[in-house]
Amino acid sequence: MTKSNVPVVMLLRAGILMSASAVTGCTLTDQENGDTETCQVQLCGDVTPCYLQLCGIVPNGSNNADASTLNRLISQTYVAISWPANIAAGRGVALAPTDPSALATYIDQPRVWETWKQDWEAQGDIAALTDWDSYEYRAGRPPCDEVHLRNGQVIPVTEANWTELRKAHGMVLDKINLVEANNDGLAVLSGPLIEDNGTYQRFATFFNQPLYECWRTGTGPGCSKEGRLHVPAADGSTPGAIMVKSAWRELIQADIDAQTFLSRNLLVLDPGQGGKRECHERTMGLTALHVVYKDADLPAKHQWLWGSLEYQANDLPKCLSSEGGVGYQNKAPPVTCEPLPPGKPTDACRIKDIPDGFYSQMNTASALGSLPGALKSYQMVAAQWGMQTGDTVQASPPEAANARFETYSQKSSCLGCHEKTSASDAIWSLSKEIKELNGNPCAYQQ
Ligand code: HEC
Repeated sequence: MTKSNVPVVMLLRAGILMSASAVTGCTLTDQENGDTETCQVQLCGDVTPCYLQLCGIVPNGSNNADASTLNRLISQTYVAISWPANIAAGRGVALAPTDPSALATYIDQPRVWETWKQDWEAQGDIAALTDWDSYEYRAGRPPCDEVHLRNGQVIPVTEANWTELRKAHGMVLDKINLVEANNDGLAVLSGPLIEDNGTYQRFATFFNQPLYECWRTGTGPGCSKEGRLHVPAADGSTPGAIMVKSAWRELIQADIDAQTFLSRNLLVLDPGQGGKRECHERTMGLTALHVVYKDADLPAKHQWLWGSLEYQANDLPKCLSSEGGVGYQNKAPPVTCEPLPPGKPTDACRIKDIPDGFYSQMNTASALGSLPGALKSYQMVAAQWGMQTGDTVQASPPEAANARFETYSQKSSCLGCHEKTSASDAIWSLSKEIKELNGNPCAYQQ
């Protein structure tokens, strides 16, 4: 087998490209009708300028902060952190990262980002935060007082049983409320998004190892806590900090049968009677994902590259002009630490079209749409970064939002709202202000 044949064979074995197609270098030929189009999926290490590599290795940075490089960098990062996780090897480790067939073979394994530390694991007494690979919780108290299993069993959480409960369920969806920008551009707590099936959309935030270790220890290359937090940026030879925020909805049987959602059996935090935090075992489907990557080639003042994906990007309808262009109707008030009121669906809609050009290539059947299983359902809806002009850093493009996370603030900007918390390096969950803001109704009543 010649070297150039390897990718062809591996991609076909993985069933990742249309079965009637063959890959030759950077060109994809449809064998049925002979049409040729640019191949958009490659393997780790391929250097030709195609769009996506089918690779579980997180990129080391951009080396060239132009729009097309940055758009590809964030999509590539998404592919790498969506690789199946090698749980036995520790948290954040990809299983067979250079074998493209791993993505399809281990489709039911948690993705790498799902094994990162959740934001509540980074909160509380910093000196008591646990090692990267640990699932223990020592810094305060876990986000659940009780675990309610699907079979009706209720397990009171103790320090002794928490680690196993957590491991068995992978993650806790601990946030309910959304955030929006007020007239001064500051983030304020806003009502939840209630799905058409009457259930609440939920959220969970994750940090990768370079980010978490910097926060925990304040040491290491590119990390500083002098005056303000600086988490490491990718510098061309190593990846840096990455943070993810995920949004989930409760699945009904028809959704489960259709298998188009990345679906998981998770713990979902519901405020209970008397401020009790009940975590219920439920089948949830991923509706949206923010992926944010720190890159040293971006302006020193703001090195984050903001990316965002949604489930079947046109799942939320485009807003009609008769709806006043706000992006929603029936907004519920923010949820407090009390039992959840019954939900009237929000009727969310998308104010802006998903940008053309790059996205129309990245979201095609031969790029993100070629990923196996439910992964093919997720499409890029936004990418944003800072451009230095004199002393100031301006967001490019000026507005960027995800209609499922920023439903009530779709004309705002990731960079604009997050840089308000520059003391914690634009990471809201690690800021002092978050106690008043957080979408988790009960977490801070310690
Ligand atoms: C109106 C303000 C606002 C806008 C606009 C906004 N965010 Fe956030 N974001 C927040 C707040 C506040 C939190 C923390 C509370 C929470 O997660 O509910 C947060 C949390 C996050 C997190 C988890 C890490 C952290 O900072 O706590 C990520 C990742 C994230 N946002 C990405 C994005 C991306 C990408 C965009 C743009 C597409 C965006 N945000 C737009 C306010 C905003």
